[in-house]
Amino acid sequence: MNVQSPLYASLTAYLEDLQESGIDGIPTELRTATAPEVVPPSPPVAVTEQMAPPPVEETAELHETLEQIRKSLGACQRCKLGATRKNLVFGVGTPRARLVFVGEGPGADEDSQGEPFVGDAGKMLNRIIAAMELRREDVYICNVVKCRPPQNRPPESDEVLTCSPFLLRQLRSIKPEVVVALGTSATQALLQTKVAISKMRGKFHDFNGIPLMPTYHPSYLLRTGGNSDSFWSVWDDMTQVLQLLNLPVPNKSRKK
Ligand code: URA
Repeated sequence: MNVQSPLYASLTAYLEDLQESGIDGIPTELRTATAPEVVPPSPPVAVTEQMAPPPVEETAELHETLEQIRKSLGACQRCKLGATRKNLVFGVGTPRARLVFVGEGPGADEDSQGEPFVGDAGKMLNRIIAAMELRREDVYICNVVKCRPPQNRPPESDEVLTCSPFLLRQLRSIKPEVVVALGTSATQALLQTKVAISKMRGKFHDFNGIPLMPTYHPSYLLRTGGNSDSFWSVWDDMTQVLQLLNLPVPNKSRKK
């Protein structure tokens, strides 16, 4: 393996975290375990070459609880965001969620309250979840980075690289049936792509055997308006998500 590669860096960080959480070796059965079964997504999933599997899959089957993952983060200072955050924002919702929403990173409200999507973007996300006839408690919500980037700038690549192993562990622990990536940062981090969100959204992509739907970030919808084309694009994306989950699709029609 190229020792400069992001994969190597993420894997090293992951193994260091395991060590910090008291695991000082990988049991034989984990080393010899076969790769997890990849569930073919349905409906057909567009697979592109940018979708490198996340680094955590380099290690074998290892079930961790969300509590264990939170504990291994501790009072994290692994990247520069640790110095300026008020609260680390781990995630909220059920550990048995069939559907996980992944955003970019905490804003000011989330930083103060320690919970993702509680500010204006959160209200928009709540609106989307309610339109799907789901409740926040039915899903799991988290972010690519767990600490607020100053001035709400997008997280930088070193911050994403440092923090994403924890997101991958969260997803691996929950094993959702569908992941929704909210906006560019989440889509690009999870699918290891630079392709624009406008080109990625609207179809499922493969994330380690889990169908992943990229869609516009709720903050973008706040800027474009609640009855904009982008708002209805998000609704189209969520319709596909509901269908994949075999859940009823509420009948919504655009106000003229
Ligand atoms: N935007 C995000 O991406 N995540 C949050 O938690 C809040 C706003």
